[in-house]
Amino acid sequence: SLKAFIFDLDGVITDTAEYHFLAWKALAEELGISFTREDNEQLKGVSRMDSLEKILELGSRTGDFSADEKQALAEKKNEHYLTLIQNITPDDLLPAIKELIADIKTSGLKLGLASASKNAFTVMESLGLKAEFDGIVDAKTVAHGKPHPEVFLRAAEMLGVEPEACISIEDAAAGIQAIKAAGMFAVAVGPKESFENADIVYASTAELSLEKIIEVYNG
Ligand code: G6P
Ligand code: MG
Repeated sequence: SLKAFIFDLDGVITDTAEYHFLAWKALAEELGISFTREDNEQLKGVSRMDSLEKILELGSRTGDFSADEKQALAEKKNEHYLTLIQNITPDDLLPAIKELIADIKTSGLKLGLASASKNAFTVMESLGLKAEFDGIVDAKTVAHGKPHPEVFLRAAEMLGVEPEACISIEDAAAGIQAIKAAGMFAVAVGPKESFENADIVYASTAELSLEKIIEVYNG
């Protein structure tokens, strides 16, 4: 039976997915690479270095930089990203997230975070959510990024629950793949056509309802 909810951070709890996009777009432009919102969909949930590789591929510039230069480009994007997130406050939760988290806690269910971002603790702190969560796993401590299931499995482990007893929420295709590979129930937020293997899809976080999700989980 259901024991826990595990959340993705960027694009589910707060709109940092937009800031990642803006920071990558600025870097891409500087490199003369055209980078659209549509291109960005493929980067959601993807690690910093893998995202950079994908952008360089878009511009056919993968071979133009040494490993050190790529490191410097990724660092530059991150510095820009850090300036964009510096004013995040508890008011920056996406619609219905505050209520959902409160309902989960009232129901006695555990609460976990599985993020592909190395900045996850910083953002959770700014949102005032760090202490609310029973377990947080970020990109600093996992070997394999999403769509590999590791980050979700580690979060379940930290909560002391089996994967089958977890419902996880994601806005990225790579994230939904990771959740299903972990053997968990997957809730997707975003356009229906992007998430063929999700168990439920909501167009936006505003529609998330604990009652409805649990009803579908229980079949
Ligand atoms: C999240 C976001 C991605 C981002 C990745 C790495 O999964 O969805 O857009 O590239 O984290 O973030 P970081 O903060 O470590 O650069
Ligand atoms: Mg996300």
